[in-house]
Amino acid sequence: MSKTLQAVRGMNDILPDDAETWEHFEDLVRDWLKSYGYRPIRMPIVEPTPLFKRAIGEVTDIVEKEMYSFEDALNGEQLTLRPEGTASCVRAAIQHNLVAGSGPQRLYYHGPMFRHERPQKGRYRQFHQIGVEALGFTGPDIDAEHIMMCARLWDDLGLEDVNLELNSLGSAEERAQHRAALIAYLEQHQARLDEDGKRRLYTNPLRILDTKNPELQDLVEAAPRLADYLGDESRAHFQAVQVLLTDAGIPFRINHRLVRGLDYYNRTVFEWVTTRLGAQGTVCAGGRYDGLVEQLGGKPTPAAGFAMGVERLLALWRESGGESDRVRPDVYVAHLGEQARRLAFRAAESLRTHGFAVLLHCGEGSFKSQMKKADASGAAVALVIGEDEAAAGEIGLKPLRGPGGQQRIALEALPEAVAGLLYTEEEDDDGSV
Ligand code: HAM
Repeated sequence: MSKTLQAVRGMNDILPDDAETWEHFEDLVRDWLKSYGYRPIRMPIVEPTPLFKRAIGEVTDIVEKEMYSFEDALNGEQLTLRPEGTASCVRAAIQHNLVAGSGPQRLYYHGPMFRHERPQKGRYRQFHQIGVEALGFTGPDIDAEHIMMCARLWDDLGLEDVNLELNSLGSAEERAQHRAALIAYLEQHQARLDEDGKRRLYTNPLRILDTKNPELQDLVEAAPRLADYLGDESRAHFQAVQVLLTDAGIPFRINHRLVRGLDYYNRTVFEWVTTRLGAQGTVCAGGRYDGLVEQLGGKPTPAAGFAMGVERLLALWRESGGESDRVRPDVYVAHLGEQARRLAFRAAESLRTHGFAVLLHCGEGSFKSQMKKADASGAAVALVIGEDEAAAGEIGLKPLRGPGGQQRIALEALPEAVAGLLYTEEEDDDGSV
């Protein structure tokens, strides 16, 4: 016998119990995004590889070792499964002239992203992001808006222990000055650098500050700080973001070593971190990327955004007791016999026309076993249609969770009768009757 096929390592099936929680979460998130005036955009999952190389940076973990790239067998084009959404979103905005044509854009997207990382709890090879990008906004207000949006969502979801870390990466010139000072400093200590550090010394020294290697912590601690190289404008921008956050009562910690793993950022960067999820505690991250639109061939356009990791947020939500109830049908339709089945279909469709969720029994089975299924489905009401009912053109109606016995009614009277039973049951649940 051949071996059973399994999903690709690090890529998960989301089974119905979980998928319902996902959908509930996505509904909440959509309403939240709309309440801030963000509009949806959907980009392809596959993009030309050079897009990510140019946007994220050649010397980043993502581009160096985590991209699922392949050659299009038909035309030889280099393609990549998107590892993130910002590059695609900016590409789409440039391609369709969104900002130049219609002014600043507040956009959001959600969907799967792909990174060939070592899978562990909270870190997957296919994971999902909800991303927000605001294109065409210069001021610190949009940076603050993004952070405040997140704070509101955590609050709406009842999440606890999600802490904000904030830093400013300054402008490209300020980073260049800091970079020169950093390289000079690291050159003095070159012998102590690990392999990654040596490789990144001249290509991406800022990322060395982000090292997890415990033996390098004192070296990194004493390194020249970017904060000391920020000019007046960058300082004022960062200060203004902090004032707005303080006004909104959002606590933050300035983390000078927060540099982010993607090269497009400048000025404000932030991460929301929790200690409740183990090693993979960053649930949301983002910042400003004023140079990216131009770098990808568009007109200079300031921009900022962030993305949340859905798997991580849902794990945290679950921890805080936020799982959604199972989705239940209103009505289960049980039937026995050829004529009864025909009437059952008519009854079910008639109820659906009136907006009820109806589960119609399909297949064989005695009334006893069908009623067991009706009960297990969580439906509030069962329709019971046997030969007698079918002959009379009537329907048996039985409340499954409220008081009252089975009654027989005409097909035409069914929607109103079901509504009556469901309504009574809701009142009972409330305890208000
Ligand atoms: P990122 O920090 O690479 O930023 O990813 C954002 C979030 O996606 C992370 O904080 C984490 O919650 C989640 N995430 C990343 N990798 C994985 C993984 N392997 N498994 C599970 N979750 C993961 C970006 O992607 C930027 N595009 C964010 C952004 C938007 N910046 C500006 N606009």
